[in-house]
Amino acid sequence: MPAGIARPDYAATGIPSDRGARAVRTPSEIEAMRIAGRVAAAALVEVGRHVTPGITTDELDRIGHEAMVAAGAYPSTLNYRGYPKSLCSSVNEVICHGIPDSRRLQDGDIVNIDVTAFIEGVHGDTSATFLVGDVDDRSAALVATTRAAMHAGIDVVRPGARVYEIGRAIEAVALPEGYSVVREFIGHGIGDQFHTSLQIPHYFDPRQDTVLEPGMTFTIEPMINLGSAALEMWDDDWTVATRDLQRSAQFEHTVLVTDDGHELLTVPADGPPAEVLYAGVGAGTSPATPAD
Ligand code: MF3
Ligand code: CO
Ligand code: CO
Repeated sequence: MPAGIARPDYAATGIPSDRGARAVRTPSEIEAMRIAGRVAAAALVEVGRHVTPGITTDELDRIGHEAMVAAGAYPSTLNYRGYPKSLCSSVNEVICHGIPDSRRLQDGDIVNIDVTAFIEGVHGDTSATFLVGDVDDRSAALVATTRAAMHAGIDVVRPGARVYEIGRAIEAVALPEGYSVVREFIGHGIGDQFHTSLQIPHYFDPRQDTVLEPGMTFTIEPMINLGSAALEMWDDDWTVATRDLQRSAQFEHTVLVTDDGHELLTVPADGPPAEVLYAGVGAGTSPATPAD
C-alpha cells in the first residue's frame, strides 16, 4: 500500500469505529460516493477481464488491488475486521466472503468477485458473478436470475418506498424459479463507514418498514442458491458456503435514493458495469478476453 493513499479508520487495527447511524448523506458525501463507486466498478470490470480457466483467485486479488491503488483508493476489505485480502472471491457453493488463494479457476466454475473501494473518505461496494469458460445451463440460469433479482430490488428504490419492498421484489424473481434467498447476509447502509446500521434484507420482512429518503445510500446484494438457504461457515471464520454444497450466485450495487428514484453509484465512468459487460458470456471468452 503506497503511503499516499488515505486509509479507513480500521486499516491499522481491523476494528471499524462505530460513528452513529446517519442514513442520509450530505451532497459532498454523495459526490465522493460517485467517485468511490466508479473506482470499485472499474476495478470489478478489470478483474472480470481476467476471469478465465486456470487463473488463481490470488492473481485476481492482485489485479483488483492494483486497479484500486492505481486509482488512488484503498481496498476496503483489507484488514476489515481482520480480513486478509483486497477483494472476496466466492466460487461455486461459496455464498460470500471467500478468501482469494492459490486455487485455479476451472472450466465450468462460477465465481463472485466482490470489490469495495475507499476513496474521498467513503466506500463503494459492488460485485458480480462470472461464468468461467463453459458453464452448465442450470448454473448459468442461476446467475442470470440472480442478476435480474438484484435489478428488481433496485427498481423499487425511490423516496417513500419501504425497505421491505426491496426484498419482496427480489423474492418475486427468485422464488418462482425454485431458488432460495440467503437470509443471514443482507444489504447495508454505506458511506464513510463500510457497513452502517441500515439493513436491507433480500427477503420480505414486514418489520423492515423504514421509509426511503433522498440521500440514503445502501447496497443491494442478493445471494441466491440453487438448493436450500442453509449455510455453513468454514473454519477460516470468513468463507460462507451452502450446507448442501449446491451453487450460489450474487450481484451487488451501491445505490443512492434520489429525489425521484435512484442512481447506481457503482458504475464505471466510461462504459457498462461488469454485470452488463459480461452478462451471459463466460468471462475470459469474447467480449471479456483481455486485449493484451
Ligand atoms: N463487500 C462485502 C459486502 O458486500 C463485505 C466484505 S467484508 C470482508 O458487504 F471482510 F469480508 F471482506
Ligand atoms: Co456490501
Ligand atoms: Co460487497
